[in-house]
Parts: sequence; structure tokens; C-alpha cells
Amino acid sequence: QVLPCCKIQFWLGEGSALLHPDSRTHPRSLEKSAWRAFKESQCPHMLKHLHNGARITVQMPPTIEGHWVSTGCEVRSGPEFITRAYRFYHNNTFKAYQFYYGGNHCTNPTYTLVIRGKIRLRQASWIIRGGTEADYQLHNVQIICHSEAVAEKLSQLVNRTCSGFLPEDNPWEQNVTLNFAMHELQLIRVEKQYLHHNLDHLVEELFLGDIHTDPTQRMYYRPSSYQPPLQNAKNHDHTCIACRIIYRSDEHHPPILPPKADLTIGLHGEWVSQRCEVRPEVLFLTRHFNFHDNNNSWEGHYYHYSDPICKHPTFTIYAKGRYSRGVHSAKVKGGTEFVFKVNHMKVTPMDIATASLLNVFNGNECGAEGSWLVGVQQDVTHTNGCVALGIRLPHTEYELFKMEQDARGRYLLYNGQRPSDGSSPDRPEKRATSYQMPLVQCASSAPRAEESPEENKLGQYSSRTPEKESSAFLLFLTLLICTVSHFHILS
Ligand SMILES: *[C@@H]1O[C@H](CO)[C@@H](O)[C@H](O)[C@H]1NC(C)=O
Ligand SMILES: *[C@@H]1O[C@H](CO)[C@@H](O)[C@H](O)[C@H]1NC(C)=O
Ligand SMILES: *[C@@H]1O[C@H](CO)[C@@H](O)[C@H](O)[C@H]1NC(C)=O
Ligand SMILES: *[C@@H]1O[C@H](CO)[C@@H](O)[C@H](O)[C@H]1NC(C)=O
Repeated sequence: QVLPCCKIQFWLGEGSALLHPDSRTHPRSLEKSAWRAFKESQCPHMLKHLHNGARITVQMPPTIEGHWVSTGCEVRSGPEFITRAYRFYHNNTFKAYQFYYGGNHCTNPTYTLVIRGKIRLRQASWIIRGGTEADYQLHNVQIICHSEAVAEKLSQLVNRTCSGFLPEDNPWEQNVTLNFAMHELQLIRVEKQYLHHNLDHLVEELFLGDIHTDPTQRMYYRPSSYQPPLQNAKNHDHTCIACRIIYRSDEHHPPILPPKADLTIGLHGEWVSQRCEVRPEVLFLTRHFNFHDNNNSWEGHYYHYSDPICKHPTFTIYAKGRYSRGVHSAKVKGGTEFVFKVNHMKVTPMDIATASLLNVFNGNECGAEGSWLVGVQQDVTHTNGCVALGIRLPHTEYELFKMEQDARGRYLLYNGQRPSDGSSPDRPEKRATSYQMPLVQCASSAPRAEESPEENKLGQYSSRTPEKESSAFLLFLTLLICTVSHFHILS
């Protein structure tokens, strides 16, 4: 029997609580993945490809009808280890499976949520360009436990919550118990791309809203960036083994992903973004890092853009500093802790709006006062960073990393998701418990000494003629001032 408060909590409407054990286990042999060596640096090529944004088309408004699946084991703040399979029907209803696991490779399902409801697309998002806003309604949520122990634990939770264990005047606690929300459905984006320029190989990706990095804020958070995308089961990357496993699953047969070993982090080499990335609060960027394990120093390039396909550059940051490796994370299985410091920085405004913004700021707070020109780099180390861009030097951040190999054997580097409140992880207790989109290794050794990497990369832009000042200028300025309030080392 479901008590009334539980109905409010997660069985909205006619749903019922199904707590039954299902201890299915299918051990699978260890997946053999090939290590592929890179003879020359592909980094400039890969970044250029991204900068052009050529291969990707964005559907506006998005068509979300279909069956969408995770491409691997996802880590949510907490941490929670999860895979997802969402179906959206033509009549605007949806049925979403969230499979939860006890470990970071999604090999041991603990429980599954089956979420049914209705979704209605609204207007294009005014805040997150390229996204579409949506409303949703939950009809019911079922929990299916995959072991006696989990069933026991959850029944206790529910019993406690519903028998007056918690004060009645604290209604939010009920939601916090399972910490379940589907607010991710409030922000949607669908991208299509043809892999390897092959018209037969269409991949469709569904980006849903991000989850707050502080689990206690999850219920109250409206997404302002995206989670890792789901892929359309019909049009997915054929090398995605997890996609097929998750596609075939249901609440009684939760996906069990092939077991993998945790890779030891080897940062050495160069790493680049795989896509135009979105940060909470209107930042689009691509990243390029060079880590030198020999002397524990690093260099980073951050190419910022005003648009979601990273076509219109706004400013570029070159930063460098040192890092030290910590220990395996006790909190996040499979994660390794690092500390990063930045003590040197250069800024290049790439459009008139940003150059003007930098010139508006008075005082010795961002390079030489009033001297900023589009495409011309300035060192801001001696002014302790750049107040206009929210950067203060020296700066320290507490990081979380994990490494994986993709189906082609390339190394992927995940670093911690930035705090959703826009703050900086500048204390150990603010270290992330989830990850952002991975960087891919593009060169396994450092570049030759005679080439200064930052001049190289900036060369791609400095000849670009700035666009005419638009009427959006003031708006952009305002947004920039309001939103670029913190610099994140690994952004
Ligand atoms: C919507 O469509 C799905 C799949 O065709 C069906 O199962 C469901 O009953 C429909 N719901 C409504 C309210 O029509
Ligand atoms: C529910 O909670 C009450 C009081 O805490 C306890 O006596 C009872 O055994 C619990 N029932 C279950 C099924 O856990
Ligand atoms: C629980 O959360 C849902 C959606 O997040 C909300 O509609 C509902 O009012 C909340 N319940 C309580 C008791 O606060
Ligand atoms: C660290 O070593 C790399 C070459 O391996 C060199 O390019 C870089 O300048 C060095 N950095 C520092 C801070 O010594």
C-alpha cells in the first residue's frame, strides 16, 4: 500500500511501488581494447575541425521522438553511476529508464527507475543559445530493485519518510530522500552529424539539461548547460557497444556493461575538446591542454565563442602553471585527485565587443589600461589576471580526473564538472564528484621546443577581420560581465 506522502513524492498519480529483487548477473569477459599510437600531432587539425563546426547540424525545433540511450556509464554528482534509456512518443508522452549501479563501470545494477510522463517543447532558450526549453509532467515513477539488500534499504527509506520519521513541516525532505528529479527535460538540443563524412552513417544526439553539482540543490535547479548526450538507438555510432546493450534493456533486465579496468592517469601529452562545449551561463568554448609530466607543468588554451557551434570567437586565454598528483579518490570510485595552479596568463580579445569590454575597465586590473585591440595578445600576469574576465592570479583548483579509452583506442581524459553555482573548486571540499565532457588525446608527446604553441594557435585567428559591431553589443557586454565571473583552470 502506498501512503499519501509517498504519492506526492514519487508515485505521482496511479503508479505503484514495485520493490522486488532481481539479482541477474552476466559476467562478461574483459573487453580487449587496442592502443593506437599517434605518430604526429593531430591537435591543430582536430581543433580546426571543431572551430568550423562544419559536420554538425542542429535541429530547431528538435524532434525528440524515438529511443535514446547512454553511450556509456555516466557519473552524476554524489556520485551516482547511471545509464539511461529514454523513449519519447508521438503523443508527447515519454517513458524513461534510469539504471543505477553500485560501481563506476556500470556492471552491478542496484535499482532502476521507470519514469512516465508528458513533455511539451516550448520556445528556443533565450539563455542557452541553441537549446530549446520544455515543460514536463510526471505521471508515475516506479522503483525496481535488483537485489534484496537494495530493496531492503529502499523500503526502509520509504517507511521512514512516510511514517512521520521526518517532520511534516519539512515537505522538501521527501523529494530529497531519493533525490530524484527530471529537470533535465527542461533543456533540450538535438544534433545530427555524419561520421567520417559517410552519408550512411548518421549519428543523432540528444542533449538534456545538466544536473546540479551539489546533490542537495538538484531539486531546485533549472539546467543551464547539458549532460553527456544520449544517442538515437536507430542512428548511433556503430562502435558504441554500450548503446546496444542499453537499448535491449528494461527494468527487469538492466544493462550490464562490459567490465573494464580503471586506467592509471597519464596526463603527459596534448589533449583537445571533442566538441564545442557549453558551460553553465552562456559560455561556449574549446580547450587544448599540454601537460608535461617531466616537470609537472601544464599549458592551456581556451578558445571562447559567442555561439553554440563555436564559429564566432570572442576571446582566447593562454594559461600555464603547475600541477601535483594526489591519490585515488575515496569518494568517487575510479577518480584520481589533482591540484592545479595557474600563475601565468595571456588574453587575446577576438571581437570588438570583448576588446571594448576590456578597455572599459579602469585601473591596473587587466593588462595595460585602454590598450586592447582585436586579435592582439597581452600578458595579464603582472596585473594578477584580469578582473573583467573574473580571473585572479595566482589561482589554485582541486581537480578530479579519470581516463578511458574510446572504441578506436584513443585516450579520453575527464576532469571535474565545474560547480553549478559558478564558483571555483578552490578548496579540497569543493572538488567535483562528477565529470565534464572528455578531452581526447591528440599527441602523446610534448611539441617541439622551437614552436611556441600559443603563437601557433593564435595565428589561426589574428588575420580574421572582426565583425561589424551589432545591436547585440550591449546585451553581450552585460552578459559577459554578469556571467564570466570566474575562471576555471581546466574550465
Ligand atoms: C502515447 O503513445 C504510447 C506509445 O504509442 C502509448 O503507449 C500511450 O498509451 C499513449 N498515451 C496516450 C496518453 O495516448
Ligand atoms: C517501518 O518503521 C517502523 C517504525 O520505525 C518499524 O517499526 C517497522 O518495522 C518498519 N517497517 C518496515 C517494513 O521496515
Ligand atoms: C517534489 O518534486 C516535484 C518535482 O520536482 C514537485 O512537483 C513536488 O511538489 C515536490 N514534492 C514536495 C512534497 O515538495
Ligand atoms: C617543462 O618541460 C617542457 C618540455 O618537456 C618544456 O617545454 C616546459 O617549458 C617546461 N616547463 C617548465 C615550467 O619548466
